[in-house]
Amino acid sequence: MQYDFEKCWDRRGTSCVKYDLMEPFFGSDELLPMWVADMDIATPDFILDDLRKRLEHPFLGYTFGGASYREAVLQWLEKRYAVHAREDEIHYIPGIVAGIAFCLQAFTREGDAVVVTTPVYPPFLNLPQHGHRELRCSPLQIRNGRFAIDYEDFEQRLQGAKLLILSNPHNPGGTVWSPDELQRIAALCEKHHVTVISDEIHADLTLPGHRHTSYSTVSEAARSHSITFIAPSKTFNIAGLSSSVAYIPDPSLRQTLFSYIDGYELANGNVFAYTGAESAFRHGEPWLVQLLEYLEGNIGYAIGYLQQHIPEVKIIWPEASYLLWMDFSALGLTHEELRRRLIEKAHVALNDGTAFGGKDYECHFRMNIGCPRPMLEEGLRRICSVL
Ligand SMILES: Cc1ncc(COP(=O)(O)O)c(C=O)c1O
Repeated sequence: MQYDFEKCWDRRGTSCVKYDLMEPFFGSDELLPMWVADMDIATPDFILDDLRKRLEHPFLGYTFGGASYREAVLQWLEKRYAVHAREDEIHYIPGIVAGIAFCLQAFTREGDAVVVTTPVYPPFLNLPQHGHRELRCSPLQIRNGRFAIDYEDFEQRLQGAKLLILSNPHNPGGTVWSPDELQRIAALCEKHHVTVISDEIHADLTLPGHRHTSYSTVSEAARSHSITFIAPSKTFNIAGLSSSVAYIPDPSLRQTLFSYIDGYELANGNVFAYTGAESAFRHGEPWLVQLLEYLEGNIGYAIGYLQQHIPEVKIIWPEASYLLWMDFSALGLTHEELRRRLIEKAHVALNDGTAFGGKDYECHFRMNIGCPRPMLEEGLRRICSVL
């Protein structure tokens, strides 16, 4: 392996959410952080080098995403996902969560219904509620060890709704939706006139043996009613650069969202966001290929270890990304007791399942395995020793 993913780093004291904000969330900062979805694998050198190079020029004035940045984004979309985007169809956004907030403002009003499939990344639930939209959750089922949509329930929730927010691939399950599944979603959304946000932040992390399908490519309907968000932030561990992208092929949706963003000047970007994203998209593929092999190894190791030591645990085997969704309910412990043991005895910080969709996900936890193997081994040892 050309790159060293095994090196353990001390990230404390760097204003790092995953390390330096444990105290307010867990009541202690002495935990092993396996929660926030950023990796404990360092940002690759080619990105750091490009950022350093940019700093050789002593001006950090107002900036914009220039032709070279836009070309790198378009090439990445084309090469990896067969998305034939044009320059005017993409727009820098500071983050995907911000992008979802922009869509809620631009496409919906207070009281409008927004559909999500649960469990799901918590901001999908929190943002619509914050904006006084009606949140409609369609619970996912587990079929053949992966998440699956209950189409009957899903269609009911779509009736009269304005927006679907889809995690494609899915966080926390790591499910890579197939072209068939996406086509079915698209047909239902088209039938009910629902605009779709396809959040593809985890797409680059699709694991060997699986294939990501970008939502807009599955049908003409999908193309005409969707907003796709991509980002290099999960892939290359550069979330602190705030650099995501919106892609909208439909002229009317594009005009609505982009004029909202530009009119309020919500997405002017910054020097590091553009430089870092361009570097990632231009030079990132060989590093990414090796990272995915490493993550696949971590997933196999973690699931094997957990199944050996806590055979009652149910885990969804991820098809993308570095998050494990674990159900400990067969242990017969309450959610509070599980949480207490994990935090106070194992000293491990995991994401609480209830944040992903409420009480239905008690006794569920999400573990981030995007870290050097020694850290993963330590986390697993601690978890298993208290359960
Ligand atoms: C599905 C999903 N969307 C968006 C984000 C965050 O995106 P951003 O940092 O660009 O707001 C995450 C981070 O974990 C995520 O899992």
